[in-house]
Amino acid sequence: MAPEILKVVHLNKSFGRVKAASNVNFALQEGVLTSIIGPNGAGKSTLINILSGSQPADTGRVFFYGTDITRLSIHRRVQMGLCRSFQLVNIFPEMTVFDNLQLPALAVHRRTRQILRSLRKEAAVHLAVEQLLDRIGLKQEAGTVASALSHGDQRVLEVGVALAAQPKLLFLDEPTAGMNPVERVRILDNIRRLSKNKQTTFVIVEHDMDVVFSLSERIIVLHQGEIIGDGTTEEVRNNPRVREVYLGQEVAA
Ligand SMILES: Nc1ncnc2c1ncn2[C@@H]1O[C@H](COP(=O)(O)OP(=O)(O)O)[C@@H](O)[C@H]1O
Ligand SMILES: [Mg+2]
Repeated sequence: MAPEILKVVHLNKSFGRVKAASNVNFALQEGVLTSIIGPNGAGKSTLINILSGSQPADTGRVFFYGTDITRLSIHRRVQMGLCRSFQLVNIFPEMTVFDNLQLPALAVHRRTRQILRSLRKEAAVHLAVEQLLDRIGLKQEAGTVASALSHGDQRVLEVGVALAAQPKLLFLDEPTAGMNPVERVRILDNIRRLSKNKQTTFVIVEHDMDVVFSLSERIIVLHQGEIIGDGTTEEVRNNPRVREVYLGQEVAA
């Protein structure tokens, strides 16, 4: 069995009288593409905020490969390989696709400081960027300024920027938001393919059920801060509690 990459124990978070996380417990296996779903206000964003370190939990613990990271900063978590892709803040719109990918690649190769002195002999970084362009399928667009990309390609570039930091675990928040059907199919194929090579474990937060059921190997369903379903697509589809929350419509489709 694949190693346990993340473990969440007794997580609780309240905003006044609203329970955004209510005794949340789960563990994630390395390489298993997992989706976190639930209606609006279910606590998906709060959970991702807590796991990525941008919001503290009231109580509970988070472990990353067995190490307690509950009190670690976002920065420390990123260094350890736990990253999230923010919507449209990872991209420098005035820079080319290549340069957007080059910045995080530089950081990984610990060359940011030296590069300011010498811009030559950066073969390793260049190679890393070429590989990223291949992985995300934006080779043709390498010299294009990011703001000139289609919306879908900008979202693909965001994923690429996140991947450039070589994360072990990557949270994607609604990766297909605002995409047209063609772009949607492309990014889903991309994520599926990237997930297969197991360098990065993907966790997707998504409300589009077609996306979720076509992509996920495991689905965790939140409702009012509580996990009400957790399992394979089949298990979740047939879960009465989940059907109740979704009125039996979307999950039955
Ligand atoms: N900063 C906040 N202050 C007050 N209430 C919040 C805050 N963040 C989230 N909430 C509340 O917590 C609940 C869960 O929100 P959220 O995690 O954003 O849900 P989701 O992402 O599933 O839509 C909601 O009722 C929301 O209104
Ligand atoms: Mg949300």
